[in-house]
Parts: sequence; C-alpha cells; structure tokens
Amino acid sequence: MLKTQTDIKQEILSKLDRPLVLIGLMGAGKTRIGRMLAQTLQIPFTDSDDEIEKAAGCSVSDIFQRFGENYFRDGERRVIKRLLKKKACVISTGGGAIMAPETAKIIWNNSISIWIKADMQTTLSRVSKNLEKRPMLTNGNPETILEDLMKKRYPVYEKADIHLTSIDMEESNIIQDALNAIYNHVHGKK
Ligand code: S3P
Repeated sequence: MLKTQTDIKQEILSKLDRPLVLIGLMGAGKTRIGRMLAQTLQIPFTDSDDEIEKAAGCSVSDIFQRFGENYFRDGERRVIKRLLKKKACVISTGGGAIMAPETAKIIWNNSISIWIKADMQTTLSRVSKNLEKRPMLTNGNPETILEDLMKKRYPVYEKADIHLTSIDMEESNIIQDALNAIYNHVHGKK
C-alpha cells in the first residue's frame, strides 16, 4: 500500500537520531528549505549564521570586516559543534562551513547531510537581492566568484548523504522530495 506523507513523516521521526544538516552554496535556498522541512516534521530549526551573529553580537559581514574570515570560520566550527549535540532537528549551515576540514568532519560524522543545489542563474538572482550581506562576494564580480566557488566546493558538497535541487520547483514538491530522500536514507536505501 502507498504510504501517506503522515506515514513517511512518522517513520522518519521514529528513526531520526541525529540532526539534518543542510549544506550548499549561498543563495541555494538552505534556510528557506530548512525552515519548511523543520516545520513539516515539527522539529526545531536553527541557522548557524544566526547563531554566530547572536554569539558575536554583530552581523556576519561585520565579523568578516573586523576580524577576518579565519576568525569567522573558527566561531562557525564551535557553533556547529554545539548545534550538532541536538538530536532530531534541522540545521542550515553557511556555504563555506563544510570547506573547513574540522567542521566537515563533525558534520559528516554526526548528521544526515543534505546538499541543496541550485543553478548559477537562480543562485545569482537570489544573492543579488542582498549582496551587502555576502562578504564572500564583495571583492570582485559576484558571478565570477560564484563560478569559482562552485568549482572548488561542489566536489565537497557532493559527499552529502542526500542531494536536493531547488530550482523553479513548488515548495511543496521540494519538501516531498526531501521527505522521500530522508525516508530512504534512514531505511538504508540510497
Ligand atoms: C559564506 C556563506 C554565508 C555566510 C558567510 C560565508 C560562504 O552563508 O556563512 O557569508 O563562505 O559561502 P549562506 O550560505 O547562508 O549565505
């Protein structure tokens, strides 16, 4: 018999013993999808950048400007390590978090990782809406920088347990895809 979304949700929740961690390039839709996924599963949602800002008392852009990227990555690793102590929850991480080897190790070992992927056009149009909030894109042409980041980061993002595409899709379809993929993952099916 075909399973309903309620059955799928319940079966995921009964097996979920670690956080669902969203990774992927800025503008891919990690926060939006993460929030919806958490709401659908009725589990907590946290955005690691928000937590870093709370801990630092200033914005991510300010941290980059005043203290530099290394300082930010250090705080990011500590925040993600703390967030990963929770069990069933959804955590959206900043696009560069998984590129720091120590942060990557704790994410790969302690979560179900989900790569949220979008194409260049979608990514560019999303990030262009608030470039001032994207310190990684301020030193040059955003499209060239994104291209370079895609080349460097995609081979790492690819290691995620689950891959999801967020281009031109109804939100409900993305969440349905996410639920099916998580269901298969917790049941040991790829
Ligand atoms: C970064 C992505 C940002 C934020 C910081 C650095 C990156 O998060 O952590 O500006 O290196 O790609 P989002 O991916 O949520 O925009």
